[in-house]
Amino acid sequence: MTDLASVSGAPHTAILGIGSYRAGRLVPNADIVEAIDSSDEWIQQRSGIKTRRFAEPHETVQLMSVESARVAIERAGIDPAQVDGVIVATISHMLQTPAVATAVAHELGLERPVAFDISAACAGFCHGLALASDMVRAGSAKYVVVIGVERLSDITDSHDRGSAFIFSDGAGAVVVGPSERAGIGPVVWGSDGEQFDLIRQREDWRDVVASDSPQMPHLVMQGNAVFRWAAFEMAKVAHATLDRTGITVDDLDVFVPHQANMRIIDAMARAMKLPERVTIARDVADQGNSSAASVPLALDRLVQEGQAKSGDTALLIAFGAGLAYAAQVVTVP
Ligand code: UT7
Repeated sequence: MTDLASVSGAPHTAILGIGSYRAGRLVPNADIVEAIDSSDEWIQQRSGIKTRRFAEPHETVQLMSVESARVAIERAGIDPAQVDGVIVATISHMLQTPAVATAVAHELGLERPVAFDISAACAGFCHGLALASDMVRAGSAKYVVVIGVERLSDITDSHDRGSAFIFSDGAGAVVVGPSERAGIGPVVWGSDGEQFDLIRQREDWRDVVASDSPQMPHLVMQGNAVFRWAAFEMAKVAHATLDRTGITVDDLDVFVPHQANMRIIDAMARAMKLPERVTIARDVADQGNSSAASVPLALDRLVQEGQAKSGDTALLIAFGAGLAYAAQVVTVP
């Protein structure tokens, strides 16, 4: 048997820079309610959402990815030529192939990085962050841009009472690279495929094509079942993540859960017994649920508004269709 070379990379990794892009159209509940026989009061009470962001026609998945990544690279203070990896987490890029990551890399002027998309729905960004960190530590790349991006308005049924008021559009990006200290902790992630049908694309593409009146397939969600799973199971995942990282809730400064529903965020914070002083991301009220984009959008907002500062310890946790989840503790860049 021939011995093969074994390479390794940096001992530690960190988020070196973060950027985000909010889709341009601010849509209040008042604009949504008529088609679903709902009310501003109901939506706010059940989800905490007051407004959401929908993309204008020119705000494509590619455009929002590029804009958020450009800012992240600039803030990381590295030369774009140093970026040798791009991971895009999305479920709303409408070309099955090729990966939008290659087009994003090209538009950013990067020099032929490894570039691919991943599909883990709302948990996609935290999956990408874990992959990027492992790639840098394994020596398969040195600086990796991770983007969470969605244009869910394209695949949301504006007449579906269970989901029309939830979903939104936007992008968030980070640069992951080598660091002297561990700035990205171990990931806790997994899936529960028994609950595959709880959030899903309603129709298979082949059924759409075979239909007499083909329509864009839409997302459907059994919201209440997802709500119960998220509120109870994700607090356990959060605790497991702190244990793996070797810290407790008392070491946390910031909590950035997936921005799905304000009541889930509150239930998790209660179940985790988060100390009062921990800053909790509550971007969902203004942005809605932007799936893979929600965690980096919410974290960047806290940083830009001065509610999270460089060096803070933040727990990220994301969950959604699959059902899939991923969580890690990071140092705020
Ligand atoms: O991002 C991926 C992960 N996704 C999530 O984490 C989302 C999790 N789920 C949720 O956020 C919540 O389930 C929703 C906000 C989607 C819904 O809230 P809910 O408290 O679970 O409502 P529900 O589906 O249990 O419905 C409660 C009531 C029902 O009426 P009855 O049976 O109690 O008379 C529904 O028919 O509210 C009714 N209802 C509505 N009323 C006004 C359902 N949808 C609406 C609506 N407007 N849009």
